[in-house]
Amino acid sequence: MLNIALPKGRLGDQVYELLDGIGYDCRDIYLDNRRLVFENEQTGVRYFLVKPSDVAIYVEHGAADVGIVGKDILLESAADVYELLDLHIGKCRVCVAGKQDFREDTGRRLRVATKFVNIAKGYYAALNREIEIIKLNGSIELAPILGLSDVIVDIVESGATLRENNLRVISEIVPISARYIANKAAYKFKQAEVATMLTKLAAKLPQA
Ligand code: PRP
Repeated sequence: MLNIALPKGRLGDQVYELLDGIGYDCRDIYLDNRRLVFENEQTGVRYFLVKPSDVAIYVEHGAADVGIVGKDILLESAADVYELLDLHIGKCRVCVAGKQDFREDTGRRLRVATKFVNIAKGYYAALNREIEIIKLNGSIELAPILGLSDVIVDIVESGATLRENNLRVISEIVPISARYIANKAAYKFKQAEVATMLTKLAAKLPQA
C-alpha cells in the first residue's frame, strides 16, 4: 500500500484528477463528508487529505510515503524529503506586493506581513534590507490596507485578490508549481511503488 499525502483545497482537486488519470483512483474521495483517509485496495493507494502546508511534514516524518506539494511549502519548511518531479500544475508566484501608491522608505525597517516567514527573510537578507516580519496565517492582503505592514510576501496566482484590494506586485521572488515528493526511507523500501508513480506522472507532463 502506498500512502499518499494529498493537499486539500484548490491544488488538491487538480492533483487528484492527475492521479486518477494515471490509475491511482479512489472513487470514495468524491464523497462529500469529513473523512480524511481514503483507501483503494485494488489500486494499492491510501490517501490522507491534509492542509497543503502540512503535506511535507507528513512525508518527512514517514506518516505518508509520498506527497504532492507546492514548491512554496518546500522552500518555507526546508523539509528533509526527496523532491522527485515538477508536475507543472498549481503554477503561481511568491511576490512582494503593496498598495498602489507604495513608496519605499529606505531610512527605516520595512514591515513585511506574510505566512512565508523564511522565504521573506531569505529574500530580504540577500538584498541586505532590514525588515520586521509580521506573521499572519491568511488574508495577508489586509495588512497593508490597514497599515499593519508596508508590504506583503504572498502567493499570486491570477492576480485577482491583489486587484480586488487595490494592491500591486512590487517584485517577484520565485515561481512556484506542485512537486512530487517522497519520504527518504520510503524511497528505499518502497522503491518500486514510488518509482512506478514517478514514471506514470512523468509520462503525463506536457512535453518541453
Ligand atoms: C492565496 C494567496 C492569495 C490568493 C492569490 O490565498 O494567499 O490571497 O490565494 O490568488 P489569486 O492571485 O488568484 O487571487 P488562499 O486562497 O490560499 O487563502 P489564504 O488567504 O488563507 O492564504
